[in-house]
Amino acid sequence: MKDIDYKEKIYLDKLPKHVAIIMDGNGRWAKKKNIPRNFGHKAGAKALQKILKAADDIGIKHLTVYAFSTENWTRPKEEISGLMNLLREYLKQYLKDMDKNNIKVDIIGDITKLDKDIQEQIEKIKIKTYNKTGLNLHIALNYGGHDEIIRAIKKIGQDLLDSKINIDEINKDVFATYLDTKDIPDPDLLIRTSGEQRISNFLLWQIAYSELYFCDKLWPDYNENDFYKAIYEFQKRNRRFGGI
Ligand code: IPE
Ligand code: IPE
Ligand code: MG
Repeated sequence: MKDIDYKEKIYLDKLPKHVAIIMDGNGRWAKKKNIPRNFGHKAGAKALQKILKAADDIGIKHLTVYAFSTENWTRPKEEISGLMNLLREYLKQYLKDMDKNNIKVDIIGDITKLDKDIQEQIEKIKIKTYNKTGLNLHIALNYGGHDEIIRAIKKIGQDLLDSKINIDEINKDVFATYLDTKDIPDPDLLIRTSGEQRISNFLLWQIAYSELYFCDKLWPDYNENDFYKAIYEFQKRNRRFGGI
């Protein structure tokens, strides 16, 4: 039986403006193959390349991917350094290939806890891709929803102390401008791979009305057609936002 081509089935005039992805399952993918977990992460980085292209191809404007959470620091040292080296490699390659694509990159999360050279690489990429007009890729690095909200509250507290805002001015729209995602619309669709059905501290404020889509495939096996299927399923949903 021939697989369904979901790309053909998508309405391009009804695309989600923002898709968020919890790229999960790299470790289990490696385990199944009896190879070290970091090989799974490497394969996961390859899968991400494919999905970036797939998203940009149909004209998705914003894609946010969960690459490293505030809780992932509890993993073994070798796994963390493997992930950080992969990130270095990935960012370097990205700078090299920059002219081949039209993707603009930024980061959400607290990057001040990452090694200095990675912070510098990130700054470089942000500046160099600033004028790109295609997909906006937001990479969540040392990101946690709780941490983001606490950082936002501290910034508001400081602005109150400095009399830059008045307490009565604080509402949900003002609060959102203190989050890392201040320039990004809330996700319409959140995808999680690997069969786990939880949020794991991702975009807690922003997903209030996102459609959730869970897929059993492990992230390194996730492909363009799986991504298009998620969008196809999203387009069948009836979003009500509390109305009727
Ligand atoms: C997701 O894959 C990648 C990161 C969290 C960095 P995992 O490493 O969580 O893979 P599993 O869930 O153990 O299979
Ligand atoms: C979420 O996956 C974080 C990333 C994909 C980067 P985890 O694998 O860390 O989440 P849990 O531990 O299964 O909830
Ligand atoms: Mg996991």
